[in-house]
Amino acid sequence: MDAINDWENPALTNRNRLAARAYFMGYETAELAATYSRELSHGFVQLSGPWRFRLFGAPKAVPAELMSTYEADWDEVEVPHLWQIDGYGKLAYTDEGFPFPVEQPLVPSDDPTGVYQRIVTLPALTPGSREIIRFDGVESYAELYVNGTFIGMTKGSRLSAEFDVTEAVHEGDNLFVVKVLQYSDGTYIEDQDMWWASGIFRDVYLMERPAARLDDFRVRTHREGDVAHVTLDVATTAAERVVWAMADGGETVFEVEVADGHAEVAIEGARFWNPEDPHLYDMTITVYGADGVSEVVPHRQGLAEVTIEGNQIFLNGTYFKMHGVNRHDCDDHKGRAVGLERMRRDLVLMKRHNINAVRTSHYADDPRFYELCDEYGIMVLAETDMESHGFENIGNIATVTDDPAWEAAYVDRIERLVMQERNHASIVAWSLGNESGYGCNIRAMYAKAKELDGRPVHYEEDRNADTVDIISTMYSRVSQMNDFGEHPGPKPRINCEYGHSMGNGPGGLSEYQEIFDRWDHIQGQFIWEWCDHGIAATTEDGRAYHMYGGDNGDYPNNGNFCIDGMVFPWQEPSPGLTEYKQVICPVRVAYDAGELSVTNKRWFTTLDDVRIAVETLVDGDPVATVEVVPGAVAPGETATFPVEIEAAAAGETLATARVYTVGAKPWCEAMYQIGAFQFAIADNPRPAIAVRAAMAPAVDEEGTALTVRTLGGSVVFDTVSGDIVSWTSCGRSVLAAPVRVGFWHPLVDNHQQEFDSIWQGNFLNVMQTSTRSVAWEREGNAVKVTVRQRIAPPVHAFGMHVELVYTVRPSGRIDLAVDGEPYGDYDDIIPRIGISFEVPGADRMVEWYGHGPGENYPDSLKANPVGHYRADVDDMFTPYVFPQDCANREGTRWVALRSSHGDGLLVTRPDDAARDPFSFSAWPYTCEDIDAARHVTDLVKRENITVNINDKILGLGSNSWGSEVLDSYRIRFERFGFEFSLRPLASADLTQALTKIEEA
Ligand code: GAL
Ligand code: MG
Repeated sequence: MDAINDWENPALTNRNRLAARAYFMGYETAELAATYSRELSHGFVQLSGPWRFRLFGAPKAVPAELMSTYEADWDEVEVPHLWQIDGYGKLAYTDEGFPFPVEQPLVPSDDPTGVYQRIVTLPALTPGSREIIRFDGVESYAELYVNGTFIGMTKGSRLSAEFDVTEAVHEGDNLFVVKVLQYSDGTYIEDQDMWWASGIFRDVYLMERPAARLDDFRVRTHREGDVAHVTLDVATTAAERVVWAMADGGETVFEVEVADGHAEVAIEGARFWNPEDPHLYDMTITVYGADGVSEVVPHRQGLAEVTIEGNQIFLNGTYFKMHGVNRHDCDDHKGRAVGLERMRRDLVLMKRHNINAVRTSHYADDPRFYELCDEYGIMVLAETDMESHGFENIGNIATVTDDPAWEAAYVDRIERLVMQERNHASIVAWSLGNESGYGCNIRAMYAKAKELDGRPVHYEEDRNADTVDIISTMYSRVSQMNDFGEHPGPKPRINCEYGHSMGNGPGGLSEYQEIFDRWDHIQGQFIWEWCDHGIAATTEDGRAYHMYGGDNGDYPNNGNFCIDGMVFPWQEPSPGLTEYKQVICPVRVAYDAGELSVTNKRWFTTLDDVRIAVETLVDGDPVATVEVVPGAVAPGETATFPVEIEAAAAGETLATARVYTVGAKPWCEAMYQIGAFQFAIADNPRPAIAVRAAMAPAVDEEGTALTVRTLGGSVVFDTVSGDIVSWTSCGRSVLAAPVRVGFWHPLVDNHQQEFDSIWQGNFLNVMQTSTRSVAWEREGNAVKVTVRQRIAPPVHAFGMHVELVYTVRPSGRIDLAVDGEPYGDYDDIIPRIGISFEVPGADRMVEWYGHGPGENYPDSLKANPVGHYRADVDDMFTPYVFPQDCANREGTRWVALRSSHGDGLLVTRPDDAARDPFSFSAWPYTCEDIDAARHVTDLVKRENITVNINDKILGLGSNSWGSEVLDSYRIRFERFGFEFSLRPLASADLTQALTKIEEA
C-alpha cells in the first residue's frame, strides 16, 4: 500500500505547529508597548516582502534539495500574494463545485506546488528565548524548512500557524523555505464561493519570545450594573511575577498582581464596549523574569459580555440588532491578500453606511481585522474557515461533516479561531462555518467552542438550532421572515445572508427591514455580500476591466456570480450600499402636521450627537432650512418637535430632513450625513399661461414623408413605419433616432432567473414592431399623427397592439399618447413599459426633478430623495463589472437633455398637475450594446445618447440568489396607457420652458 501523504490525511492537521493562543506581541518596555505597533515588538522581523519563488506541477516533482539550497535565479514575488494573480498557474472561480474529481481525501496528483525561499539575516538569540515564526494565512497546505531542517506543516488556510524555529536558526544568514500546495484534504472543507487561488497570502513574521514570557492570556468580563467584573487568566513560562494593569485615556484604572495565573478586578462605573461607543481600555500584562521586566504585552481591551436570555441576545445587558454584511477578503489587485489599509477602509465604509455588524464569511480573518472591529465598533459574527459545499454535487453535502474521520480537522478550525480571538469585545458570536450540512463534526465543533468561550455559537445549517445557540437561515423571503417572526423559536434568530447584491441591486431592502424591526427575537441580518470579487485586469490595448469566472479559460466556472457585492472591486460604494445605509439609518424621522418626530433606533447611545436639518423644497429647489436638535433621546424613544413648513401657493412643496452626526469621528468628518427622510407637504396647481398660436402648422406629404412645420422647426414622420425620422428646431436636430415603445431593458443580474424561466423562451428581448397604419388629421391648431403597431416576439403568437398618437403643437411641442392592448397568452412580468429614442451626443447634460442624485429603482430609492439634480450622461452610467441596466431615476416630474448651449429636449407629462411621475435613464450606449457587453471594455461610446422614458419599470429584487421582485414592484405585460410631452428647448432658460403653457 502506498504511504498516506500528509496533504491527504484529514486526521493529521499539522506537524509541530504550536498550540493556538491569543494573538499578541511582547515589547521590551511599557513605552514601546504603548505604541501598539508590532514592528517595534520584541525581535519582530517582517518576512512579508520579496521571496524567491518557483511553481512546480506536483508536490512530488519538487526536488528535496530545494529545501536546503538557495536558488538565487528564481523569480521574485512579493509576499503576501496569491501566485495565480501574479501569473503563475491559473485563476479559477466556482461557487461550489470542486475544480477536480471528488475523491476525498485525495486531491489531484498534479497539485500545483509553490516553493518560496528567502535568506533571513538574524542576530544571535538571547539564551533562553525562543524564535517563533508566524503565518497568518497560507493556502492550503504548507511545509516549513529552515536551513534544510523540516520544521513543521500546517493546514487550515485562513487560520494562523506558529512554529518554533529556535533550534534551526543561527546568527547570520538563514534559509527559510516554504513549500505550499494548492490542494490538500483541507480543500474539501475550504470550498467557499470565491476564487481558487493559493500562496502565502497573509503576513509572515518572526518574533522573539523572551525566556520569561507570557504564553497566552484570556480576559473575561461580567457586568453587574455599572460594575465590570473582569477576570484574567494567563499561562506563562519562567515568570517571577506578572502584573496586570488597565488605563483609560492615560489614567490608571487598576494595577494588580496576577497570582497563580489568575486575577480578578471590579471596575466601578465601567465604560462598557458597544458598537456605538467602542470604548477600549489600554491593558498591559507585564511579565517579570529574574532580571526584572522581561516583556510588556499590550491589548486594547473592550469590556463586553454577551448573554442569552430566552430567545434574545444581549450585549452588556442591552438588547440590540445587527445590521450587517457578509465580508470576504477582497482586493482587486491582490485577491484575498488584503492589506491592513484596505481592511481599515472596509470598516470605515461600513461605519459610514450605518452598518454595525460583520460576518467574516466564511473563514477567519487576519488577526488585526478583529482589532479594527474593536476599535471602530463593528460587532463580529466570527466564522471559521469551513465549507464543504461541493459535496452537494455528489448527493450529500454532509459527506465529511458527518464522518468522524474528519472530526480532528473540523475541531481544529474552531479551536484555533476561538483561542486566538476570544479577547475581542467586538465578537458577539462564533460561527462554525458555512454550507457543510449537519453532522457529528458540527456537534464536536460546538462542544469545543463552548469549552473555550461562553459566547453564542452560530451555524446556519443546523437548521433548527438543535445544537447551536442561534437559529439562522439564509435568503428567507420577506413573508417567510415575518412568519418566523410570528412563530418565535426557543432561541434567538438571525438572517445570515439575504439581499443578494449581484450587479444592480439589491431591491426590496426596506420591506425586509420592516420585518426585522418588528420582531425582537430576530436579531439581525447580513447582506450578501460586502464586495465584488473582481480582479483588476487590462486589455492588450491597455483598457482596465475586472475579471470573473471564465476570464482565465477556467472551466467549469460560475461566471460573474462572484461579482455580488455592495462595494465595487475598486472599493467604492455601489448604489446598493447607499440604499442599505438609508434603510438601516439609526435615526428615523417622520413629519405630520407641523410636528417632526425623531426616533432613536440605536441600541446603546442617545441622539446627543445628532442634528437634523429640515429643508423646504419648492419644485425641487431649497427655499428654507430649519435645524432641529433632538438632544438626549434615549435608544428606542421618540421625541417630537414643532416644525412649521410653509407650503408654496403654487407648485410642489416637499420637506427633506437630513440627519447629521455633529462631531468628527474616526470614520467620518464633522456634520456627516447619516440619512435623509422626505415628506410631501403640498402640491398646489400652478396657473397656466394660455398662448394663442400664431398659426396652425403646415403639413406636406411627399412620398413616404409627412412633414409638419412648426414655429422654427419641423417634424418629419415616415408614413410606412410611423417613425419620426427627423425633428428639427431652430436649425438643430432634436432627435437622433425615432421614438419607439419598448418593454425591455438590458438584463440585470437580479432578473436572471426571470430571464431563464420566462423571458428568454418568450423572446421578450427581441420583440419586433410592425406598423399597421399611419394616419394624420388636424385638430384645432395641432396636427395629430396616429400610428398603429403590433409589438411582439418572434416564434410566439402573443404581443401588444399599440397605438401612438403624436399631437404636434404649433410651438413644436409634441404630446405623445400611447395605449397598449395585449393579445395572446403572455401576461407575466416584463422589465418595463415606456419609450426610447436617441438624442444628439451633444445633449449630454441631464437635468431633472425627481429621485436623485444617484441611480434608483422602484424598490430601491430610499437613499435618493426627490430634488432638482444635474448630471452628465457619462457620470450617470454605473460601471457594473458586468454591464447591465443602470442609471434609472424614479419619480421624475421632468427631465431635460441639453447641450452646453442649453438647447435640447424637455420631457414631462403633458399635464403636470396630474403629478404622475415617471422614470428615465440615459446612456452613451444602446440597450443592445449593454446587453451584449460582458465587461466594461466591451462598451464603446456611441455618437448619440439613448434615452429611455418609462411609464413603469420593474423593481430589482435580489433574485440572482435572493428574493424575487416583491408583488408591489411587479409590472406585467397587460393593457396600459400613458402620455408624455416632448418639447424642444432653444437656448432659452429651462424655467421658462417649464412654465405651464396651454396652447390654444
Ligand atoms: C450562499 C453562500 C454564499 C454565496 C451565496 C451566493 O448560499 O453561503 O457563500 O455562495 O450563496 O452568492
Ligand atoms: Mg457555498
